[in-house]
Amino acid sequence: MPSGRNRHPLLDTALHIVKGALVVALRIPTARSTKSVDFKKGLPLRGAITVGPVTSEPNEEDKRRIQELVNDKVAANVPIRVFAVARQLAETTYGEAMYDDFGVPKSVTELRLVFIEKWNINANIFPVAQSTGACGRIDITKWKHNSNKNSLEVSFDLTPTEAYTDEQNVPLATEEALANDQVPAREMVLPPADVAGTHGTDEATETNGNPQNSQQHQQQHDPEGNPTGGGQRVTPWEVEADEETGIDYDKLIIQFGCSKITEDHISRIERLTKQRAHRFLRRGLFFSHRDLDMLLNAYEQGEPFYLYTGRGPSSEALHLGHLVPFWFTKWLQDAFNVPLVIQLTDDEKFLFKENLTVEECKRLAYENAKDILAIGFDKDKTFIFSDLDYIQTMYPLVLQIQKKVTYNQSRGIFGFTESDNIGKSAFPAVQAAPAFPACFPAMFGNRKDIMCLIPQAIDQDPYFRMTRDVAPRLGFNKPALIHSRFVPALQGNQTKMAGSQVASSIFVTDTPKEIKTKINKYAFSGGRATVEEHRELGADLSVDVSYQYLTYLMEDDQELKRIGDDYAAGRLLTGEVKQKLVDVLQPIIKAHQDARAKITDEDVRSFMDPTRFEGKKLI
Ligand code: TYM
Repeated sequence: MPSGRNRHPLLDTALHIVKGALVVALRIPTARSTKSVDFKKGLPLRGAITVGPVTSEPNEEDKRRIQELVNDKVAANVPIRVFAVARQLAETTYGEAMYDDFGVPKSVTELRLVFIEKWNINANIFPVAQSTGACGRIDITKWKHNSNKNSLEVSFDLTPTEAYTDEQNVPLATEEALANDQVPAREMVLPPADVAGTHGTDEATETNGNPQNSQQHQQQHDPEGNPTGGGQRVTPWEVEADEETGIDYDKLIIQFGCSKITEDHISRIERLTKQRAHRFLRRGLFFSHRDLDMLLNAYEQGEPFYLYTGRGPSSEALHLGHLVPFWFTKWLQDAFNVPLVIQLTDDEKFLFKENLTVEECKRLAYENAKDILAIGFDKDKTFIFSDLDYIQTMYPLVLQIQKKVTYNQSRGIFGFTESDNIGKSAFPAVQAAPAFPACFPAMFGNRKDIMCLIPQAIDQDPYFRMTRDVAPRLGFNKPALIHSRFVPALQGNQTKMAGSQVASSIFVTDTPKEIKTKINKYAFSGGRATVEEHRELGADLSVDVSYQYLTYLMEDDQELKRIGDDYAAGRLLTGEVKQKLVDVLQPIIKAHQDARAKITDEDVRSFMDPTRFEGKKLI
């Protein structure tokens, strides 16, 4: 056993995380299976753990899984707890689970135990961080199997989050004083695989099997419990990014544990729909997914699916960013010819917005419905509903979902704190329910097997991580997800367009003059300080908001490329590019306003009436 000389609280924390992942993935016992540990201080921090018995080197799939489990445990930022207990009581409660192979001297009568809930427990004296997120990143760098000793040495590099590069700043777990009857049960401290009698239960599948499942794909939290993303913060309610670089979407894919949309996906969609992919797909605005391959495979085999998307009606008018998922959903509906359900979460907005009344939320839902219907969804295949209206039909399903999600999970995924109202913790089940066909008996009868695809911006992903975790436990398919980036605020990439900031957004109610003024006044420019400099160096397209809006809005690929090339080479000036955007955007918004003016109250009522689907074959 190494001395304390090279120890570092983050390396000790990492050991607990890696050990739990090895136990889960390789199905070795927690007890006495750590043969040795090793450390190297100085950056990068390095550690190694040798475990056994392991009869062969893990295959690539297992290695990938172990790394994923480690990533997920760091991302979940769960607490690391420490308490002292009489050795005898510890042994009665946990057997030998807390001992390494090298044990603890006989003379020790009180043990200091470190544990991560349902993951790992260990008796040792070394300081650890308060929560797993402090480790930042743990990259497994080497796997060394020793067939003589039946052991596996796993080496890793640790890159702490920036705030904790200085060891002194790492917030340490403090020892809890627990009375004997407060000592956590064995099931609390060991992964389900290691707890006799729990194999095959819900809990075992939750933390043991599929890495998509609950604890493992939770949002990362800072030590105060606020969701973070390593310098960026993306939640359903807030998006913030590095001031200089904006949102790092590749990093977000890793942190959230979703997958990139590739050229292969795009050409496959084109093959299946026999049409050119929407520009949002071609230009990478929709960039990430979960289980899209599975959905496309099934569709190819003739299996049906439906689309589900939504809007939280917190303001009178939608902004340009809100239109993105709806435009794209319309394209998907037409291209795949599938049913669509649209949820208006008036209940969510009541719970999350301090100043809104229930009546106002409901009114806004109807107003927003007109904007959404103006996009032109197929009436025979589209159902739009306000939660406040439709909750009675959804409620049995909502209850089933609520029963499968613990308060801890809800808090872990969404970052709720003790002072948040209790409605917030329960609400995610309402957004989850429409992902299951049982929510729409008039449309799908009692079929449980129909799959669901949910277009959304990536901020909504936490809701559907939870949904996907619950799905198999209620006998449903996991919904597939397709995520877009955010249309940035006019002021720049650092944050998304948000309805609450009038000057940051183009609204569907803006007049041509307002559009022109906002773009000219606020749209962040990637151009240079002087015309001479600009002509010489050209614009930085990656930060130029007008150019980015054009990439989302301009249909003509060649024209877009020409603008991009000319602007980047300094042949076009910012003012000219802004004018091009104004020319593209004004007619889009005007067409939207004209279409909306034609939507009557009767249209809204009719789209909101589920009984019109009864007796009709939608799938
Ligand atoms: P809400 O009203 O915040 O947003 C509606 C949809 O617009 C997306 N979005 C954006 N997309 C691109 N750029 C932006 N700047 C931008 N801002 C918002 C959101 O991701 C969302 O897809 N709780 C949800 C409503 C909801 C929902 C759903 C959304 C209920 N069920 C299923 C998607 C899928 C909400 O408040 O969305």
